Amino acid sequence: MCGIVGYLGNKKACPILVNGLKKLEYRGYDSAGICVLEKNTLAVKKDKGRVKNLETLDGINSLEGTLGIAHTRWATHGKPSKDNAHPHMDNSKTFAVVHNGIIENFKELREFLGNNNYKFYSETDSEVIPNLIHYYYSKGNNFIKSVNLACKDLKGSYALEIICKNEPDTLIVTRKDSPLVIGTSENGTYISSDIPALIAYTNNFCFLNDTELALITKNNIEFFDCNLNSINKEFSNVELSAESCDKGNFEDYMLKEIYEQPNSIRETIGNTLNGEKIVFDTLQLSKKYLSTIKQIYIVACGTAMHAGLGVKPNFEKFCNIPVCVDIASEFRYRNPLIDENTLCIYISQSGETADTIAALKLAKSKGAKTIAVTNVIESSITREADYFVYTHAGPEIAVASTKAYTSQLVLLNIMALYFAEILETISKEEINKLKKEILLLSKKVDEILKNTDKIKRLAKQIYNKRDVFFIGRGLDHTVALESALKLKEISYIHSEAYAAGELKHGPIALIEKNVPVISIVTNPDLADKTISNIQEVITRGATSIVITNQNINESNFDFVYKIPETLEYYTPIISVIPLQILAYYVTKEKGLDVDKPRNLAKSVTVE
Ligand code: AGP
Ligand code: GLU
Repeated sequence: MCGIVGYLGNKKACPILVNGLKKLEYRGYDSAGICVLEKNTLAVKKDKGRVKNLETLDGINSLEGTLGIAHTRWATHGKPSKDNAHPHMDNSKTFAVVHNGIIENFKELREFLGNNNYKFYSETDSEVIPNLIHYYYSKGNNFIKSVNLACKDLKGSYALEIICKNEPDTLIVTRKDSPLVIGTSENGTYISSDIPALIAYTNNFCFLNDTELALITKNNIEFFDCNLNSINKEFSNVELSAESCDKGNFEDYMLKEIYEQPNSIRETIGNTLNGEKIVFDTLQLSKKYLSTIKQIYIVACGTAMHAGLGVKPNFEKFCNIPVCVDIASEFRYRNPLIDENTLCIYISQSGETADTIAALKLAKSKGAKTIAVTNVIESSITREADYFVYTHAGPEIAVASTKAYTSQLVLLNIMALYFAEILETISKEEINKLKKEILLLSKKVDEILKNTDKIKRLAKQIYNKRDVFFIGRGLDHTVALESALKLKEISYIHSEAYAAGELKHGPIALIEKNVPVISIVTNPDLADKTISNIQEVITRGATSIVITNQNINESNFDFVYKIPETLEYYTPIISVIPLQILAYYVTKEKGLDVDKPRNLAKSVTVE
């Protein structure tokens, strides 16, 4: 979950490392540290807290070295503290290492190293790594062989950068189940957990596969497989602008990403729906194959899972195939009934979520075909799935997912039509009507973004509440789930979502005077039913807030926000927007850090 950065080149490493960490801070932010090779010593500066703390540490600005590694942490083993912050060194201070991931067998390795007189100064799992490398080095192995032997002993996940005080111009990196990308320019070689942190320096990238190693020297990069056989790797150009990775004129990434949605939705559509033709270049699914599919599983975590719920009925209706939506961390441990007649779709903004990737591997092992839907180019999930499709929402940096969710919904809705077209399960006229409406979505989102004053006022009314409830039926319920997650994760207000008809089966006991109940009402067939449920909470003193595209009697409710109409299948893409904005402004009213909520990290690479 942490971010790692590395540099070897002809510039001072420290500013490049610190800048890179700032860009990666969304991945983890409880401590930060760097190590720069200064003449013949490894100079480590680290502390708990944010990267801006690191910048004020004594002596950091006088580091001159041109080789260094850096880390911003999301603690898995050991509290956030200076001792537990990375980089970690071996006892002899010969090696410095930063690690993203978890070493599952660290206890055994600690014991083994302890028996060989190594001491430990942190509570982390990571500290075994430099000592293990030193152990092999002290037996006469060279730098890369020592790293390779140590990695063979590690169980779990890792992206590693290692420097050695005896090897002035050498940086070794390797990875397994944690992300790592290498970029080059005339000024040197840059390492990072993701591309946006490096885009200011280069567009030329290479991605390591699991267990591969790179030996980076001043003028060369050599690649090796896990048996240290030399391998060839390609660098490729990645089109991403520096602006798309910056906050620009916005106060926070989340606000910028909310406002980017008209454009990100257009990008998603532009890459898949070409006029009237649906194009999925990376999916080779024949009619013969799709006709054998008896069920579809959509598996994901958090917001991505909510996107799955938001397309389930549409897939079922248009393709006539039953769809199950499951939470990845549940799916992977419950022996789901799947076989070669099951198609499994995995949604992940980051493409690095450990549970989602493990769930995908499980389905593959049972003979199902797998499709990954991800926003991050070359992310781990693209290497695991049979097929992958990019959402093209652009980099999403804020921990709370907004534009990735709407792009996931758009893309999966287009995919449902694509399957339906191949399977001929709905008429041409119907498909054309649906496609036409998809093309209008971005404009409708834009209309809401131009009309946010009322939502800002609502935020002032509810920011000091203890509890907020969200209700809806059908697709509106899926938006209730997503909106409750958004509000709780950034504002820390207890928010819960219920299917509107479920309230009277228990949760209504929690409704008391002035508790805000936010209802989403967009389905004409279900509107009257939901309105009856709203009436029930009004009777018990709740403040009624309604997001709707229906003609309702507004005077019956405390607050009504009208959203543009769309076909019932696509309402989540529209109705979620005011609720993202509400979560944002409630959090601002509370004076909290919107982009970096407590205890969370953007990319959840541990289970
Ligand atoms: C969203 O606001 C959350 N922070 C979180 O639920 C997220 O959607 C989840 O961790 C899944 O991430 P992924 O899409 O990168 O797999
Ligand atoms: N497991 C390591 C630790 O707790 C690394 C965590 C991370 O990836 O940030 O220090």
